[in-house]
Amino acid sequence: MPKNNRTQKVALVTGGAKRIGEAVCRALARSGYSIALHYSTSGVEAEQAAKRIYKEGGVCATFACDLADAHATEDLVPCVLEEFGRLDALVNSASIFEKSTLAEGSLDVWDRHFAVNLKAPYVLMRSFAHYAKQGSIVNILDTHVSRSKTTYAAYLLSKKTLGELTKMAAVEFAPRIRVNAVAPGIILPPASQKSGYLDRLVRQVPLQRKGSVENIAHAVLFLLENDYVTGQVIFEDGGEHLI
Ligand SMILES: NC(=O)c1ccc[n+]([C@@H]2O[C@H](COP(=O)([O-])OP(=O)(O)OC[C@H]3O[C@@H](n4cnc5c(N)ncnc54)[C@H](OP(=O)(O)O)[C@@H]3O)[C@@H](O)[C@H]2O)c1
Repeated sequence: MPKNNRTQKVALVTGGAKRIGEAVCRALARSGYSIALHYSTSGVEAEQAAKRIYKEGGVCATFACDLADAHATEDLVPCVLEEFGRLDALVNSASIFEKSTLAEGSLDVWDRHFAVNLKAPYVLMRSFAHYAKQGSIVNILDTHVSRSKTTYAAYLLSKKTLGELTKMAAVEFAPRIRVNAVAPGIILPPASQKSGYLDRLVRQVPLQRKGSVENIAHAVLFLLENDYVTGQVIFEDGGEHLI
C-alpha cells in the first residue's frame, strides 16, 4: 500500500511495468518521488516493479489503463490524485512500435499509434495541467524524430507530432508547468528481437555503443528537476541524431 504523507512529490509514469518505464520509476523513487506506476497488460510485472521499489524504501501504487481508450485515459490522473492527494510530475513513456510504410500500412495501424503514442499523452498532459497547480511533464520521443525514414511511418509520425505537442504545451502551460522530452536512441531491442539485433546498428552511432535504461532515467530526472528548462528535447542517443 502507498504510504505517501502528501509532503512527498508524486510522479505518474506510463508504461512503468517494464524496460525503460520501469527504470524511470525506480530512478524517480530513489530521488524521493512517490510513484504512480501505470501499466496496461503487464499486471504481474507492474506488481513486481512496485515490490522492488518498496524494498528500496520507496512508495509506489499501480494503476491499470488501456491508453487506446481515451475515456479511460481521462480517468487516470483523477485516480492518481484520489490515491496520493497530489501529482507533481508526468512521464509519458508507454508506446507502441509497429512496422508500416506510407504506401503499405492499414489505417488501423495509424489509428492505434496515434491513439496510444499521441492522443493519450495529450489527454494526460491536459488532465495534468487541469488538476496540478504546478509541475513538470516529460514525453519520451525517439531519436529518429530528426529523420524521415518510413519503415515505421505511423510510429515515427506519432512521435514527431508528440515532439511538436511538447513545444506547444511548454508555451501554453507555462509558467505553472514545464514540458520537455527525451529522445532515446539505441537502448533496448524491441520485445520481439534479441539483443544481438542492436549490435549491427550501434556501429553507425558516433559513440559506437548502445545506451542504458539508466541513461534515459537520468535525462528524465534532469528535466523534471531543472526548473529553468522548458520546451527542450534531450537526444539521449550517443550522437545518432547528428548523422
Ligand atoms: N527501446 C528503445 O531502445 C527505444 C528507442 C527509442 C525510443 N524509445 C521510446 O521509449 C519509450 C519506452 O520504450 P520501451 O522500449 O521501454 O517501450 P515498450 O516496451 O515498447 O512499451 C512500453 C509500454 O507501453 C505500454 N503500452 C503499449 N500499448 C499500450 C496501451 N494501449 N495502453 C497502455 N499502455 C500501453 C506497455 O504496457 P503493458 O506492458 O503494461 O501493456 C509497454 O510495457 C517508448 O516511448 C519508446 O517509443 C525506446
